[in-house]
Amino acid sequence: MDALDALVRRLPTVERSRVAALLRREDRLASALGWVLMQDLTAGRGAPLRRGPDGRPRTDPPLDVSMSHSGGWVAAALSAAGRVGIDLETVRPVSPSLVRRCLSPPELSWVDEVPAGPAWHHRFFRLWTAKEAFLKATGAGLGQDPRTVGVDCSGAAPALLGELAGSWTLTSTSPARDVLVTVCTERPA
Ligand SMILES: CC(C)(COP(=O)(O)OP(=O)(O)OC[C@H]1O[C@@H](n2cnc3c(N)ncnc32)[C@H](O)[C@@H]1OP(=O)(O)O)[C@@H](O)C(=O)NCCC(=O)NCCS
Repeated sequence: MDALDALVRRLPTVERSRVAALLRREDRLASALGWVLMQDLTAGRGAPLRRGPDGRPRTDPPLDVSMSHSGGWVAAALSAAGRVGIDLETVRPVSPSLVRRCLSPPELSWVDEVPAGPAWHHRFFRLWTAKEAFLKATGAGLGQDPRTVGVDCSGAAPALLGELAGSWTLTSTSPARDVLVTVCTERPA
């Protein structure tokens, strides 16, 4: 049995059908692995894993899960104290027009402090993973304009700006060169 078959056998029926409908094998593999990781993280905690109508994986609060996949990497996060969102991105060239649609003017200025090239893309994805981790934690996803989520990545750790700052914590890591992961966790009230 190959790796994909082994993962698919561990999925609930509805997730098997969803994965089977994905066109590319690498997407089927990443999606199935992500679900199995979240299944394993929540196992034995009495909070069944399911998918909400918005596509967001869900358990029973205060337990929460999230997952992300990109470029052959898969990451999953679990929180036992409130909502969580995770975003993983491989740093790669993106068009300046896309960057302008995603970043606020102060964020753009920070990215433009470095010359065009790898460092510029690296700064963009530091901001982007932070924004998307937050949007995945709330479940809004890209249905919300990412420019409405203000982020500061100029310090040692990323931070949300404005009234969001007091309620959420951002943590970023780089498990390999040009792979960025940010986790956004809700602070207990
Ligand atoms: C959720 C979303 C932010 C994912 O972005 P992405 O960078 O393509 O993908 P990631 O690898 O980081 O995350 C994908 C995983 O997030 C999870 N997810 C899906 N919808 C989600 C949501 N609303 N909130 C949180 N997580 C979500 C899923 O587990 C998904 O993987 P799976 O489909 O293989 O199970 C994005 O697809 C989205 O916003 N979708 C809903 C709204 C939409 O499609 N808007 C398009 C208008 S531009």
